[in-house]
Amino acid sequence: MASKIHKWVGALGMVLASIGTAAQAADEPKIGFLVKQAEEPWFQDEWKFAEQAAREKGFKLIKIGVPGGSEVLTAIDNLGAQQAQGFIICVPDVKLGSAVVAKAKQNRLKLMTVDDRLVDGAGKPIESVPHMGISAQKIGELVGQTLADEIKKRAWKPEEVGAIRISYDQLPTAKERTDGASASLTRAGFPAANILNAPQSKTDTEAAFNAAAIALTKNPRFKHWIAFGLNDEAVLGAVRAAEGQGIKADQIIGVGIGGSKSALNEFAKPAVTGFFGTVLISPKRHGYETAVNMYDWIKSGKEPEKLILTAGSLMTRDNIAAVKKEMGLD
Ligand code: GLA
Repeated sequence: MASKIHKWVGALGMVLASIGTAAQAADEPKIGFLVKQAEEPWFQDEWKFAEQAAREKGFKLIKIGVPGGSEVLTAIDNLGAQQAQGFIICVPDVKLGSAVVAKAKQNRLKLMTVDDRLVDGAGKPIESVPHMGISAQKIGELVGQTLADEIKKRAWKPEEVGAIRISYDQLPTAKERTDGASASLTRAGFPAANILNAPQSKTDTEAAFNAAAIALTKNPRFKHWIAFGLNDEAVLGAVRAAEGQGIKADQIIGVGIGGSKSALNEFAKPAVTGFFGTVLISPKRHGYETAVNMYDWIKSGKEPEKLILTAGSLMTRDNIAAVKKEMGLD
C-alpha cells in the first residue's frame, strides 16, 4: 500500500512538473527574426547568435526567410497568429517600410530592424523604429583606403587600373558603402573616371558576377583591376568574373564587407585569389544584441536605442584570428 501511494505521488509529481514546463513554455516570449536572404552566410550567422540569446534568456526564436514583399506580410501575420510579442527584420526592400510598420501594429508586435533601415513613402528613414546597422560610409571608406594602399604597394599606375563598383543604389546602406569606397579612392588620387559603375539586379554573387562581366568586357583598356561592393558576395562575383575572363589572381584586388563564411572559404583556398580582404562586421552584435534588446523591451518595457551603427575591421589572409578575436567572434 505504502509503495503504491509512493508511486502515485511520484507520478503526480511528474505530471505537475510537466504542467509546470508547459506553462513555462507558454509563458516564454516568442520573438521573430525575419531575414531577406536566408541562404547568405551573414544572415545564417545572425540567426545563430539570435538563437544563443534565445537559449540564454529563455525565449522562443521564430526564424523566417522573407525573400519578397508578400512573404514579409504573410510572415508578420503568421507571427501574430502564433502570439509572438515582437520581431526583428531585415527587409528585402526598404520601401516596404510603411507597410511593415502598419502590419506590425495590426498584429500588436514590437518591431526592430537590422542591417537595412526602413524608409517611408518619401524615401526618408523611419526613425521611430529602433534600428541596428553598420556604419556604412566609414566602412566603405576603409574598403577604398585598403584598395588605394594596395595599389601603391604593388606599384600599379592608377591610370592603368579599372575599378569595378558593384552597385545596388536602391538600398541606402549599399550606396553609402560604395560611395564611401569611391570617395576614399579618389581622395587618395585614384582617377574618378576609372571607377566603372556595375549595377547588380540582386544582392548575391551571381548578379554581381553578371554585372562585373559586362564592365570587364566593355573596358579592355585596363591592365589591372580593383573591385568593391556592398558585401563579400558582390566582390566575390566580380573576382569570379575576372577569373572567367583570364585575369590573373595578382591582377585584381577585391575588398569586400562581411567576413563570414563566403570570405573565410576564399581565404582558406591554398592558392591566393583576387579576393584580397574584407571588412569584418559583427553578426554577433546584429543577431545576439538585437534579440536581447527585443527581449528586454518585451519583458521590462525598456525600449531599445533608436539607432546603433556598428563598426568593422579589416581582415586579410594574414590577420584572420586576431581580427576575429578583436571583434569577439573567435
Ligand atoms: C545588408 C547586406 C548584407 C550585410 C548586411 C550588414 O543587408 O545585404 O549582406 O552586409 O547589410 O548589415
